[in-house]
Amino acid sequence: MQFPIYEIPYLGNGMTIALDAVLHVIISHGIAIGVITLIVISEYIGFRKSSMDWENFAKEFLKVTIIIPTGVGAVTGVGIWFITSALAPNGIGSMLRIFFWPWFIEWIVFTLEVIVLLIYYFTWDKWRGERKKQHIYLGVSYTLLAISSAFLITGILGFMLTSDGWPWDKSFWSAFFNPSFLPQLLLRASMAFALGSIFSSAFLLVTQRNSAFRKEALRLFGKVSMVSLFGIIIFSWWYYGVVPSSFKTHTIFSILTSRFSQQPEIFYAINAIGIFIFFLFALSAMRGPVFSSRILIIPALLLCIGFIMEFERVREFIRGPYLMPGYMYANQILLKESSFLDKEGTLENSYWYNMTTNKPDIISQGGNLFARNCSMCHTIDGINGIKTKVKERPEDGIFVILGHMHEMAPFMPPFSGTEQERRIMARFLYQLANGKILIEAPSRFIQIKGGVK
Ligand code: HEC
Repeated sequence: MQFPIYEIPYLGNGMTIALDAVLHVIISHGIAIGVITLIVISEYIGFRKSSMDWENFAKEFLKVTIIIPTGVGAVTGVGIWFITSALAPNGIGSMLRIFFWPWFIEWIVFTLEVIVLLIYYFTWDKWRGERKKQHIYLGVSYTLLAISSAFLITGILGFMLTSDGWPWDKSFWSAFFNPSFLPQLLLRASMAFALGSIFSSAFLLVTQRNSAFRKEALRLFGKVSMVSLFGIIIFSWWYYGVVPSSFKTHTIFSILTSRFSQQPEIFYAINAIGIFIFFLFALSAMRGPVFSSRILIIPALLLCIGFIMEFERVREFIRGPYLMPGYMYANQILLKESSFLDKEGTLENSYWYNMTTNKPDIISQGGNLFARNCSMCHTIDGINGIKTKVKERPEDGIFVILGHMHEMAPFMPPFSGTEQERRIMARFLYQLANGKILIEAPSRFIQIKGGVK
């Protein structure tokens, strides 16, 4: 079955998925795993030391954060499904065939997580004295569930970068326990606790007045930050080591884009400065002074979020030209389908083109070819807009480029279509870039998508 193709104007499809996904990662790692685990630990410390400060801190902190994983986290998680099913239906469909069970189990695990977390919250005051221990166990069981979620999803995400033996043996186990599974899981756990310790320190510094307690708690969170920072460094190293070198070569480009990729020192400098500032924050919190920790916490938080964005961006980008390495290109055309389309024609075999417009005019044909081949990564005139990419190139030049996409930029998939379609596409792009054809946003949204008039 062929799905219609949507292009999000200006923002682009990739960026639309990324905005939702990054928010989801910050919540699912930072709050659902990091913060809630630290709340359970704080409750435990309060119980062990019979300290009302720890107990109250944990309770208040849970009160303000509980809505985030159960509300925003859940909505952004469903949002990833919603957006990818619309924008990358073939990709998500193929992935679902391989990973049906982990996703199915994850759905149950997530539902349990929410239920356990709500019970944990509502029984806080009721389960006192004798039952306090049980309450803490409940918190621990939530943490274990949250980590199981990360376990289940990381197998799938790892597969998308290091599919390893799967394209040949098609075995679920080699797909799930792929080479980047374990280092990525540990890296994600480190990111979760790095973020969690920063959020916890921030809440502590804003709400707590008792300076002895504040110092004691800040020390603990500082230690967690420090250990997490080393975890991030070590596991990034390990993770990076298992990524195929043909992908790795695009790492710096993925962050700096063509604009700055000739100055890789920018990439190293930003990361080194980031690590250093985070280190200073962790050190300051460990030693307990409130003032410097307050100053450093904001850059540390922004850097931590920035690192997550960088990590996800690199992971998603460097596997280009593939969505599923060895099986499907980033534009959702299967590797084995591409040579068929080169011979038999992409338009000829497009359900949406044939069922709707089927007009041999340049906008319908070119638009359709663009949608199928390029719209996953390029917009018309927004982020990574195709107009500026082909501007100042003659029509023949574009024609030649279309035959050598993969050589020009190894992260771009080959153009799928006959030589004649390549001509049409070149003319379309040339006329588009030179203002000879105009496609306005709303009509473009309809026209290019499936050619519906
Ligand atoms: C997997 C994502 C992806 C797909 C699919 C893709 N591109 Fe690209 N393309 C990129 C990226 C990323 C860049 C570089 C952006 C930058 O300048 O930083 C790029 C750059 C380009 C450039 C400029 C290259 C240069 O060195 O001047 C052209 C031209 C181009 N793309 C055309 C196309 C066309 C036409 C299609 C469809 C047939 C296409 N791309 C499909 C990701 C993609």
